[in-house]
Amino acid sequence: MHLKKKDKQTLKENNMRNNKKTIAVIGAGTMGSGIAQVAAQNNHSVVLVDTNKKNLESSKSKLQKILNRIVEKGKITQQKAIDIIDNINYTDNINSIASADLVIEAIIEDLKIKNELFIKIEELVSDKCIIASNTSSLSIASLGACLKDPERIIGLHFFNPAPLMPLVEIIPAVQTNKSVVDSCKELMNNWGKTGVLCKDTPGFIVNRVARPFYGEALRIYEEGIADFATIDWAMTEIGGFKMGPFTLMDYIGNDVNYAVTCSVFEAFYYDPRFKPSFTQKRYSEAGYLGRKSGRGYFDYEKENLNLAPTKDVELGKAIVERILAMLINEAIDAVFMQVANVEDVDLAMTKGVNYPKGLLKWGDEIGLENVLEILNKLYEDYSEDRYRPNPLLKRMVKSSLNFYS
Ligand code: NAI
Repeated sequence: MHLKKKDKQTLKENNMRNNKKTIAVIGAGTMGSGIAQVAAQNNHSVVLVDTNKKNLESSKSKLQKILNRIVEKGKITQQKAIDIIDNINYTDNINSIASADLVIEAIIEDLKIKNELFIKIEELVSDKCIIASNTSSLSIASLGACLKDPERIIGLHFFNPAPLMPLVEIIPAVQTNKSVVDSCKELMNNWGKTGVLCKDTPGFIVNRVARPFYGEALRIYEEGIADFATIDWAMTEIGGFKMGPFTLMDYIGNDVNYAVTCSVFEAFYYDPRFKPSFTQKRYSEAGYLGRKSGRGYFDYEKENLNLAPTKDVELGKAIVERILAMLINEAIDAVFMQVANVEDVDLAMTKGVNYPKGLLKWGDEIGLENVLEILNKLYEDYSEDRYRPNPLLKRMVKSSLNFYS
């Protein structure tokens, strides 16, 4: 086969682009270990740094177990598994990151500690090295502010488990250079990830848009409309979600989910749309954290004590309608406030938290006028700002527009 000069050039460029990069991941916990695995699977040379030697050892042995399982299933060869492990240098010596093209920080969620680390990183790496954070709740602008060259900062927010969840929210700060965004988009694409571009705003896309899934479910329970099991039954059996809100909160951990809600609520200057729930606070205080403590909204040790759902279809439909309308309103607000575009908001929820459909597409299907009517009724009933329909929703209904047409 003869390649034309132009094709040869393209091939050369592609090869250069796919060149083995050095990726440094700092923090060998849940997220850092997963991100290091993804980079190593994509043939990069990975340096995984942690101050805690035990965590490094545990990260390595966990990866070995995961790889053994994948080899047994025939998904990768034994040689590929060996290569993946060989690609990762597990170390507690931060100086090993000197040759990195990209550093992804995944340490404890604390601005002061992250800033101290970022200053150190910048002293060690080259001028061209991109510095990324996997933070869930801190602003990328605040992380970049400590750098001499803040144009190289970016948020790369992976989802747990990073090797399995396709979504990565790509978050430029106000300081970030466009070329940094472009190369991160390309890299995530090369890693087979779904990268969505997102404004540096609290909760980014997923942790902002998903809030009513938990908050409205808790509110429905608190008003005595239905119990946990019935709400979960409605959302899975009628709504088509993979997991009900209470089962999911029990998975995430009530303490963790409550902390995220509080942080988003505070960051939005106490907008009542994001108000945390007393029920969740009490469950956390009681140590009913979910699966990890054996008991949350459901009992995982004495499962026979859990109530069966009241399979009342009319009630179920009303529950789904209410939570879904709130979710769609939140997705519309993300578009309205330019957090992300329509496609990326929908991709974020289907690829980051496995929603059965993109919320904006779902809104079109239900009919935006119907979504508006549900919200108007709630708003009228409660006179609470929490239920106010988004201006973009009102405008679209007025002009008979859809998100996808
Ligand atoms: P983790 O607690 O599992 O791991 C953190 C690791 O960082 C620990 O091994 C710790 O020894 C290490 N560490 C702490 N300070 C360090 C330092 N100065 N230098 C080097 N290593 C240090 O935490 P996890 O859950 O992996 O979270 C890490 C980051 O990812 C946080 O910013 C979190 O908000 C974010 N995130 C977490 C998600 C999750 O589901 N757990 C999802 C997406 C983002």
